[in-house]
Amino acid sequence: MAVLLTGGTGYIGAHTAVTLLEAGYQVVLADNLYNSKAEVVNRIERITGKRPAFYEIDVANAAELSKVFEAYKIETVIHFAGYKAVGESVTKPLEYYKNNLNATIEILNAMRNYGAKNLVFSSSATVYGPYGESPLKEDASTGCINPYGWTKWMSEQIIRDAAHAYPELSCVLLRYFNPVGAHESGLIGEDPNGIPNNLMPYVSQVAVGKLACLTVYGNDYPTPDGTGVRDYIHVVDLADGHLAAMRYCEKHTGVEAVNLGTGKGVSVLELLHAFERVNNLTVPYKIGPRRAGDVAECYADTQKAEKLFSWRANRAAEDMCRDTWNWQQKNPKGYES
Ligand code: WQD
Repeated sequence: MAVLLTGGTGYIGAHTAVTLLEAGYQVVLADNLYNSKAEVVNRIERITGKRPAFYEIDVANAAELSKVFEAYKIETVIHFAGYKAVGESVTKPLEYYKNNLNATIEILNAMRNYGAKNLVFSSSATVYGPYGESPLKEDASTGCINPYGWTKWMSEQIIRDAAHAYPELSCVLLRYFNPVGAHESGLIGEDPNGIPNNLMPYVSQVAVGKLACLTVYGNDYPTPDGTGVRDYIHVVDLADGHLAAMRYCEKHTGVEAVNLGTGKGVSVLELLHAFERVNNLTVPYKIGPRRAGDVAECYADTQKAEKLFSWRANRAAEDMCRDTWNWQQKNPKGYES
């Protein structure tokens, strides 16, 4: 029995592949390399001593996807594949809806056609929009403010309707908060295309000299130091959460939405200063205006993951900063280097 990771050469996919291989699972990766590099497969092998099968395909293409299900007895799918840039989704909404929703639909079709019963879906805290009050519970009101977030929310709904129609399906919708960090080896990590949108890779690229200065988007929020507060979770803790979710799926049916976060809010300046302290360096920054769409605070209520999965994140912000810098120093140009 094998586990298929769509988007498996991506940042979270690669870390999850390592965790699953080390747990003894047979892992198959499918990715179109739109936002990742095939070199990741070599790095996964170097870390684990096992080489996962890899298909360079578009999982939204039914014919291409069926090649994987014909070749392997897939029991579980972890569906990471999708476009994920919030800003880009505002300027290219139709591409986002077509790509992200078709991928979810074709995965569900293939699972039904080939008898795969377990689905772990890569969702996001972005489905809560700016409406809920932190700490956010899974039953908080949802509502998105960008097409990327809507594709996650709509995919959740598609999965719920499919599970209602096909009761043998067991699905977990994992709502990530802010994944950061890298595997301790420094062999895999976050490798964004172009200028990073997200805080941690931006800080890391300033520290390595690739970018000149961080702009802190606003210091007039109603938070302890005025800067935005988020729930940063180490990507290896996140990968462990996927293993726990998969094991839950194996024993249940139905659909559960579950937050994956630490439950702890950390501000921009707190993370920046932790990065400087842990890595003994200085990151130049300036205060700029707020970024459109940002909320003051967003962090998880983590009780449901603890109750259902007996899982909790256990790495601290300092570990996230140390591992990010280790990856960045060893890979100043990402996987290109
Ligand atoms: C974090 C904080 C910014 C960059 C996004 C997506 C979300 C999810 C996680 C996919 C905020 C501040 C940032 C910078 C800054 N992705 N910041 N200067 O916006 O919480 O969530 O990534 O699922 O969908 O929206 O993460 O890292 O962009 O921002 O001051 O150059 O850092 O204002 O307070 P965000 P982020």
